[in-house]
Amino acid sequence: MIRARITGVGGYLPRRVVTNDELSRSLDTSDEWIAARTGIRQRHIADKDETAAFMGTRAAAAALAQAGVAAAGVDAIILATATPDDAFPATAVRVQAALGLATGFAFDVSAACSGFVYGLAMADAFLRTGMIRTALVIGSEVYSRILDWTDRGTCVLFGDGAGAVLLQAGDGDAGAPGILSTHLHANGAHAGLLYVDGAVGQPERPGHLVMKGSEVFRHAVTKLAGTVDEALAANGLSHADVDWLVPHQANRRIIDSMGKKLGLPAERVVVTVDRHANTSAASIPLALAEAVGDGRIQAGHLVLMEALGGGLTWGSALVRF
Ligand code: UT7
Repeated sequence: MIRARITGVGGYLPRRVVTNDELSRSLDTSDEWIAARTGIRQRHIADKDETAAFMGTRAAAAALAQAGVAAAGVDAIILATATPDDAFPATAVRVQAALGLATGFAFDVSAACSGFVYGLAMADAFLRTGMIRTALVIGSEVYSRILDWTDRGTCVLFGDGAGAVLLQAGDGDAGAPGILSTHLHANGAHAGLLYVDGAVGQPERPGHLVMKGSEVFRHAVTKLAGTVDEALAANGLSHADVDWLVPHQANRRIIDSMGKKLGLPAERVVVTVDRHANTSAASIPLALAEAVGDGRIQAGHLVLMEALGGGLTWGSALVRF
């Protein structure tokens, strides 16, 4: 049986760090409010040169280096972003060119904060059919460019960054390393809860992120709990089998409620939201890069990922490292 194994992970965070205190100098907010409601203490904000393609390339190069694989060996680049460098071509082809590649295929995925899980699911499907042998899945986001910096209800929540994983086809049974399963969902009836008000050719609309936060919060807690359970059930596994929860990093309270639901001690839940804030499609691969990089996630560990975002879209992935 072909298995899609994660053999490298990498991340990139913009040079500039902006603390809650710094935001509270120009906005009616406070470190106390932001930290208590979200767990966020700071975020990284991109400079002009730190575009989605630039950051995605850095993260991809780090994942390739960790795997010891040359860029020339990559068959597909799938890049999840809501903040591409241009409407087209896809940011993925800019990464492809920056990596010095002229073979294979590359495209972007639009599923907001669920984008990385969506990309992982697509790459897994391509690998399992034998269509490709090696894929980069990247989440790269520059939300600082789509935030209304006068809206304290949204602008304090997000940060910029990129994360990437290298997937390689391997052989093995159900216990072998690789993606066990992925589970994707969408319900466009809730599109009005979280969206960017703008598009190419609509200059009268500002292109700013709009969110009904408390409603998204309610959907997140129930829908994420559902998709976590379906991932475990699909593999005949239970909460006790999970070594690490690597959740989308939107809000510490949502993360804690998922950890509690799984009965996982806090030290088995990877948390970056305090330092990165919500980096949308980049948050899971950035958290993976951190926890693999510092040796917490090790070979043989079972890792559960979950995310929910604009769409609404949501989903989960269960991966044996
Ligand atoms: O990644 C995609 C998925 N996104 C999410 O999962 C986000 C889900 N939602 C959330 O994380 C939370 O709903 C928020 C963090 C966005 C908001 O927390 P909340 O506990 O739901 O607060 P709220 O929106 O109900 O606002 C409570 C109060 C309001 O004041 P009033 O109307 O009660 O007087 C807000 O105006 O807090 C006020 N407020 C703020 N105060 C200080 C909102 N933003 C701020 C702020 N600083 N930055």
